[in-house]
Amino acid sequence: MLGEPEIPGQTPLTDLSGLRDASIRTIAVLNAREAENIRRAAVRYLVARPSRRLAPFDAAWFRALHREMFGDVWSWAGEFRRHETNIGSPPHRVSVDLHELVADLHAWVEGGMPVPEQATRLHHRAVQIHPFPNGNGRWSRMLASVWLRRHGLGVVMWPESAIGGVSPVRAEYLEALRAADRGDIGALQSMHVRFLEDVPSSRPQHPPQSGPGGTPGR
Ligand SMILES: Nc1ncnc2c1ncn2[C@@H]1O[C@H](COP(=O)(O)OP(=O)(O)OP(=O)(O)O)[C@@H](O)[C@H]1O
Ligand SMILES: [Mg+2]
Repeated sequence: MLGEPEIPGQTPLTDLSGLRDASIRTIAVLNAREAENIRRAAVRYLVARPSRRLAPFDAAWFRALHREMFGDVWSWAGEFRRHETNIGSPPHRVSVDLHELVADLHAWVEGGMPVPEQATRLHHRAVQIHPFPNGNGRWSRMLASVWLRRHGLGVVMWPESAIGGVSPVRAEYLEALRAADRGDIGALQSMHVRFLEDVPSSRPQHPPQSGPGGTPGR
């Protein structure tokens, strides 16, 4: 372990064997490297409106997105979890559950569900499945923002450093996820609305330091 502080709701980082750069010795450096990696993915998917070809929202792309967000830092990026965690699907269900999520997404579109609600449900279900050994929260928040952006809407600019550490907003966020686990997405939807960036056309060329999975904090 890298002297990682205990953060409620975090998947603990116990296995550092996949760290590509063995010279990383502190959690702060690790956070910064991950944030830089994620930032490149954000530029790829969120600066210009992504096409269906770039972001097809199928199960293979879900994995590819995680690899793009974490692959410079971790060798296992984009690979499914092989061990049980306190939340998340059992490992043998992860692939099936992600395929079901893709089918659900299609059904929500066909049924005329508003796109922001689709994004909230996608975010919650993705992090609830918890496909990867780590980075599930940041990946699921990015997924939701790419979905919004693909539909011409603004992204959710999460206060990532507060969300990734011990903070009132993280406590609220975890409570909202637990409510969503019980079938009530209202609180999570309200948080999306609160942090929604309103006008995509006014976005800067590069995403700022807060964002959909962008900054240090874990
Ligand atoms: N009861 C829950 N239901 C759904 N998701 C949960 C629940 N508890 C925690 N989570 C999610 O799992 C995340 C932790 O997973 P993981 O450590 O893989 O992601 P991360 O990207 O490293 O962390 P973070 O989301 O804190 O930035 C939490 O932050 C939260 O997003
Ligand atoms: Mg984590």
